[in-house]
Amino acid sequence: MIPFGELKSQYAAIKSEIDEAIQTVLEGGWFVLGENVERLEMEFADYCGAKYAVGVGSGTEALHLALLACGVQPGDEVITVPNTAVPTASAISFAGAIPSLADIDPASCNMDPNWLESAITSKTRAIVPVHLYGQAADMGPILDIARRRNISVVEDAAQAHGTEYRGRRVGALGDAGCFSFYPSKNLGGYGDGGMVVTDDEEVARKVQLLRNYGQKVRYYHSIKGFNSRLDEMQAAILRVKLRYLDGWNEARRERAALYDRLLADTSVRTPTELGYGRHVYHLYAIRSQRRDELQRYLEASGVGTVIHYPVPIHLQEAYRDLGYSAGAYPVAERHAREVLSLPMYPELPLESVERVAEVIRGFEGGIGRTD
Ligand SMILES: Cc1ncc(COP(=O)(O)O)c(C=O)c1O
Repeated sequence: MIPFGELKSQYAAIKSEIDEAIQTVLEGGWFVLGENVERLEMEFADYCGAKYAVGVGSGTEALHLALLACGVQPGDEVITVPNTAVPTASAISFAGAIPSLADIDPASCNMDPNWLESAITSKTRAIVPVHLYGQAADMGPILDIARRRNISVVEDAAQAHGTEYRGRRVGALGDAGCFSFYPSKNLGGYGDGGMVVTDDEEVARKVQLLRNYGQKVRYYHSIKGFNSRLDEMQAAILRVKLRYLDGWNEARRERAALYDRLLADTSVRTPTELGYGRHVYHLYAIRSQRRDELQRYLEASGVGTVIHYPVPIHLQEAYRDLGYSAGAYPVAERHAREVLSLPMYPELPLESVERVAEVIRGFEGGIGRTD
């Protein structure tokens, strides 16, 4: 069996450092907003090339609080893409705003700047490009469009720790960037966690207040806030893991390159790494016109796969109130029908990549081509 992902090998490889970090927190007796969170914030800001970073409870909350800090108000429209994880849209809804959508570019699977332009209305207050699967959205044109109209840009970098766009790491390219530390992410804790990074001091201060009941000084509340804090245990774990992130991303890229090579002459479409950036392959998502059959064949051959994501935002039951119907975002809808994520994690044995490719070739040979 080749699992889609697994986290035990990574823990085994760095067990002594992780155990020691956890032990130190337990013995220190301080568990929420302490030295580890502060240090991780500095280290992660530095990693992203940003001035500030603020640890929060999850990637979803990072987006929610960043949107509020950028001034999003109830009734505003916030533009994102249809083919993202639902939490991108949930965060927009939590902020009281209406998710509005721009279709994607088929090569990058990310926001198409031309659609973005046409989705903007007088109510648009922010844009949330998603760096899906670990590849940057085309931030240059997106930022140009936003700056011309004084609209904030909040990057959803939940899948993009270390992703580069034109030589810069994503996160601080817009007004704020939001990361998830969910365990399976390229940088993941052993529980939930998230981070907002920004170059804007005001945004950083606002998120600091919002995450901690709206207080700067204990029991003196200047705004109405939430409880969304990264805990010391997760921060201590993430500080250890941050030191390995570049090596793990390199290992993911090596596995992606091998998949690319072994699947090159098949009919499945492998991901395209665009010339403007560096993909960190949080997911290795292929596309096939016979996706469901291929998935069943892989499953029967002992290969785990996942579909990211089978239903675009505008066709989700939860977002029926937006009033869209099938056909509204044709590129994202086609993507949802064809996309399939193959096993991908830094410790995935190269022989497993070879085996997965062999199974896909067997599918094509035995049942005919998928396109
Ligand atoms: C693109 C995207 N945005 C937002 C999130 C939400 O992050 P979290 O699960 O940490 O709340 C995720 C994680 O699943 C994601 O993949």
